[in-house]
Amino acid sequence: MPKIELLQVGSYTDRDQTLLEQSYVMHRYFEASDKAAFLAGVGGRVRGIATRGDLGADAAMIAALPKLEVISVYGVGYDGVDLAAAQARGIRVSNTPGVLTGDVADLAVGMWLAGRRRMVEAEAWARSGAWAAKGAFPITRRAFGKQAGILGLGRIGRAIGERLEGFGMQISYTSRAPKPTPGWQYLPGPVALAAASDVLFVALAATSSTRHIVNAAVLKALGPEGMLVNISRAANLDEAALIAALTDGTLGSAALDVFDGEPSYDPALLQVPNLLMQPHIGSGTVETRTAMGQLLRDNLAANFAGQPLLTPVV
Ligand code: 8YV
Repeated sequence: MPKIELLQVGSYTDRDQTLLEQSYVMHRYFEASDKAAFLAGVGGRVRGIATRGDLGADAAMIAALPKLEVISVYGVGYDGVDLAAAQARGIRVSNTPGVLTGDVADLAVGMWLAGRRRMVEAEAWARSGAWAAKGAFPITRRAFGKQAGILGLGRIGRAIGERLEGFGMQISYTSRAPKPTPGWQYLPGPVALAAASDVLFVALAATSSTRHIVNAAVLKALGPEGMLVNISRAANLDEAALIAALTDGTLGSAALDVFDGEPSYDPALLQVPNLLMQPHIGSGTVETRTAMGQLLRDNLAANFAGQPLLTPVV
């Protein structure tokens, strides 16, 4: 039996690459310099797309693959996949929910602590000799025991809240509807949530209706002592408003794992004070990426065996 052919939209770990190549012919779209010519060449033989949460699969890509049956996303977010285009042709879509929750929540909490306590600047202070030359690093604001807001109480938002309870934080959240969360306060919208919070965690799945949900009004409500942490998608945040709010002191600080146009980003971010930047590493541990790769392959295998997908989106 000839191997089934897949379009591979982005790179994976060496381990996942090797395991995929044992079962499939992997057409490495991300390495092609002329993407249209590449699709025209292999598109007629491709039965599946293996992509990532940060890359998705757009309508043009889907249209170029007449035999496409399945799109398997390595990632929980599938906002980059054109679901309408997939659904119109009965193409199945899967993602990797659950397996990455703990790591993304860990990173969110770590970014909050690092930002609040200015650990990155403090490290530079220690290494550069400023400690001996200028004296003690400036004191910061406390992290623990304050008010935390969580925008979006899915698996990841909930895991962030559970971790924050260990830091003695009072927790409020906003989601489509109140959830059974004893001790946590439901607030009806992002401005009310920000106004009640010292730190606001953005943990929403991105959709067309959440675009720029964190806007200038939300950042203003968070205030000059407040902190924003975004581990979801850049589209959930008005990045220009964030740059303005940090620059003029309307907002105290921010930590971002996701950026408009990533892996590139607006160079203006480099001039902004009190901003911690991480290169989209929320799910980036060996344990989680191994589990994501397994689930990606299991969904592909289920499709080609005519079985239901394990974690279907569509
Ligand atoms: C990416 C993510 O998939 O889960 C998501 O939605 O954004 C990440 O886990 C990651 O970039 C994979 O490489």
